[in-house]
Amino acid sequence: MNILVTGGAGFIGSNFIRYWLEKYPEDYITNLDALTYAGNLENLKDIESNPNYTFVHGNILDAALVDTLVEKSDKVVHFAAESHVDRSILGPEAFIETNIKGTFTLLEAVRKHKKHFHHVSTDEVFGSLSLGDTAKFTERTPYAPRSPYSASKAGSDHLVRAYSDTFQVPVTITNCSNNFGPYQHPEKFIPRMITNIMDGESIKVYGDGLYVRDWLFVKDHCRAIDSILQKGNVGDTYVVGGMSEDINNLEVAKLILDYMGVGEDRIEFVVDRPGHDRRYAVDWTKIHQDLGWEPEHHFQDWLKETVTWYKANEAWWRPLKTQAEQFYASK
Ligand code: NAD
Ligand code: DAU
Repeated sequence: MNILVTGGAGFIGSNFIRYWLEKYPEDYITNLDALTYAGNLENLKDIESNPNYTFVHGNILDAALVDTLVEKSDKVVHFAAESHVDRSILGPEAFIETNIKGTFTLLEAVRKHKKHFHHVSTDEVFGSLSLGDTAKFTERTPYAPRSPYSASKAGSDHLVRAYSDTFQVPVTITNCSNNFGPYQHPEKFIPRMITNIMDGESIKVYGDGLYVRDWLFVKDHCRAIDSILQKGNVGDTYVVGGMSEDINNLEVAKLILDYMGVGEDRIEFVVDRPGHDRRYAVDWTKIHQDLGWEPEHHFQDWLKETVTWYKANEAWWRPLKTQAEQFYASK
């Protein structure tokens, strides 16, 4: 099988390529990535000489390039996006361009060449749940995005469904919760805390820190996409989440401080994110019942593994952290 992966130089895409080529070494992967601040070929250093892997430096907005690559592929797995909520607040335009127009460009190509399109989306399109509530997001939850990022992802989801209904493009969609693990950019919450602690700095907790995310180890997300590509029902959406049981940001911060042997005086409460969603939680019953998927990696165990990974890979994250600090200082 030839798979076109978009955004494969980012966090989840690079983990997916590594996962796929280990599990299906006979398959071919082409990785189309524009190498924005979030794209990094160092994420795939161990793969770059694999003869079944090809990197194409290009933009999903380039219709001619996308058309050529889609024609040569059997399936498209679409990760490419502007993905960071905080950057979408500082500058929404790139999010509209890549997440909506970029997805549209890909959809036109898969429509023409009749290829299976798997769209990687987010639980953030469903908006915010309340603290203390037991409600969870399902495939039937109405859309209610609250940031430019989640609104742009919601727009892309609607386009994907429209191409399925109107043009019978074979699509599948995942709406997944917060991933964590190796190769996550150091400006995201968990890597930012680990690397700040390594640098002797405080860790920045937004607002009161009582925000809840449904943390999923990145390999479990890759496994979920795998099971959908193999046996998912064409036209369907699957929500995907972890088993982190309503742990809030402050509790995650305290776990990391504990694993790193540092006191809680390192916690610094900072100004909150505007429009900050309070709680995410995902009910992944459908993908479990239909495809047999469930998360395998326990949050606390793999959080500890993630701390170990960042400690061992300073050469990987240091330049990214420096660039991110320069970017935010300039705003
Ligand atoms: P990321 O920001 O780490 O990576 C995005 C990749 O897309 C980068 O390599 C970047 O260079 C590339 N890219 C950006 N714009 C592009 C363009 N116009 N053309 C080609 N390539 C472009 O993101 P991630 O965390 O790996 O997320 C991947 C996907 O999963 C995104 O669609 C995101 O919305 C979704 N998602 C992420 C999470 C999470 O917790 N990280 C959770 C649920 C869903
Ligand atoms: O829910 C899935 C989403 O998870 C994905 O769609 C997004 O692409 C991904 O970036 C992520 O979004 P979040 O905004 O939840 O992730 P982030 O790591 O930015 O923040 C996680 C939580 O931690 C959130 O409540 C904000 C908070 N936070 C974040 C940072 C960077 C802090 O308290 N301090 C920080 O320094």
